[in-house]
Amino acid sequence: METERLLKEVEKRLPKKRFEHVLRVTETAKRLAERFSVPVEKAELAALLHDIAKYMEPKDMQKLIEENDEDERMLSFHHGIWHAAAGRIIAMDEFGVNDPDVLNAIRYHTTGRTGMSELEKVIYVADLIESGRNFPGIEELRNAAERSIDIAMKACIAHSVGYLVERQADVFPDSFECYNEHVQKI
Ligand SMILES: [Fe+2]
Ligand SMILES: [Fe+2]
Repeated sequence: METERLLKEVEKRLPKKRFEHVLRVTETAKRLAERFSVPVEKAELAALLHDIAKYMEPKDMQKLIEENDEDERMLSFHHGIWHAAAGRIIAMDEFGVNDPDVLNAIRYHTTGRTGMSELEKVIYVADLIESGRNFPGIEELRNAAERSIDIAMKACIAHSVGYLVERQADVFPDSFECYNEHVQKI
């Protein structure tokens, strides 16, 4: 699907505010992709689709997760993380995406995981640092993204895990594993 049509389709499925977030993530992801030698078209496609399932009903996301080859541990965690798994399935089934790297970038954009590709990290980081985000510590994350994608990923996953721990929220195991991998590596 060419970008114009894809944009229209994404816009139809999301409230205005979320669509604008998607546009900013896409801009940021393309910039990071160029900076870190990741194919820009893949970054654009993954960014445009990363939140495609964000406004699905939890019961519909649950059904998609149960009916597809998905990690069902997710279902015992807050449904806020389900849209990443549901989004991968929708990208495949409804948008005809078959590039595994693009699909994984959508799939792991909320939790991270170990062994992320450069594209997966670009989407994870872009989602967190896009220009509309404003939270304590954002400047450090943006600065890290000027340096290297691994330094940025480490800063971003540490921020996300820290945020959840501070609120005594549950943390999906993939996120802890991603965090450990990055602090041990860098
Ligand atoms: Fe998301
Ligand atoms: Fe997002």
